Amino acid sequence: MAAKKWVIGNWKLQGSLSSNQALIEGIRARLPALDERVGMAVCPVFPYLPQVGGLIQGSGIELGAQNLSEQAKGAYTGEVAGAMLKEVGAKFVIVGHSERRSYQGEDDALIAKKTRAALDSGLIPVVCLGETKEERDSGETWDILLRQLNAVFDLIDAAKDEVVLAYEPRWAIGTGVSATPEMIADVHGFLRAYLVAKDAAFGARTPILYGGSMNGANAASIAAVKDVDGGLIGSASLKADEFVVIYEALRAAD
Ligand code: PGA
Repeated sequence: MAAKKWVIGNWKLQGSLSSNQALIEGIRARLPALDERVGMAVCPVFPYLPQVGGLIQGSGIELGAQNLSEQAKGAYTGEVAGAMLKEVGAKFVIVGHSERRSYQGEDDALIAKKTRAALDSGLIPVVCLGETKEERDSGETWDILLRQLNAVFDLIDAAKDEVVLAYEPRWAIGTGVSATPEMIADVHGFLRAYLVAKDAAFGARTPILYGGSMNGANAASIAAVKDVDGGLIGSASLKADEFVVIYEALRAAD
């Protein structure tokens, strides 16, 4: 069974009640029906999850959050638990995004705990991983990816857990320079082999997304790469027309 494809919008620290509404209405107007082989999800900041959950009702678009606590509940001021995200309608939660690794100092061990917390809450973690420019230039890409993978997979049961992986080279995020199709093919092939080695069925069904300056102009060439099962989209997910162009590119690939 081939992995389902997903186009997931990571809105980051952006949005407002009115711009969220305009964006979702814009997407729905351009895309009256989703293809069952290609899902779509949007990940607004926490306060807007219920609003956006209402706006997407009946569209088939899914809801995701951008972060969660590794804790289930308790005296953790400012944190948000997976069960709470689930209760307000989230299906996904992004974990291990490079901005949180850099700015919030999240390390592999914490990301692994958050991944487990998401799974235990019934959410699908979108686990992000990727190398910096320096790591790529010094030939460390595979070591870095393996370290990131091993940490998370220590706490994943490949026989039953459902996850999405997102390869996001850190130097490609928000820079306007995406990785080349060749680089993406290499890394996605490596990730697929890693997953298959854990469990053949798990490896086949787990979507591997690409993220990092994916946009309307490069979506078709990225979508055509083997083992690319979708995209995690930042800035282009805030423009309805571009987000839908990316979706259509994934739908057309195969
Ligand atoms: P970008 O962000 O598409 O703006 O590069 C991707 C991401 O951070 O997930």
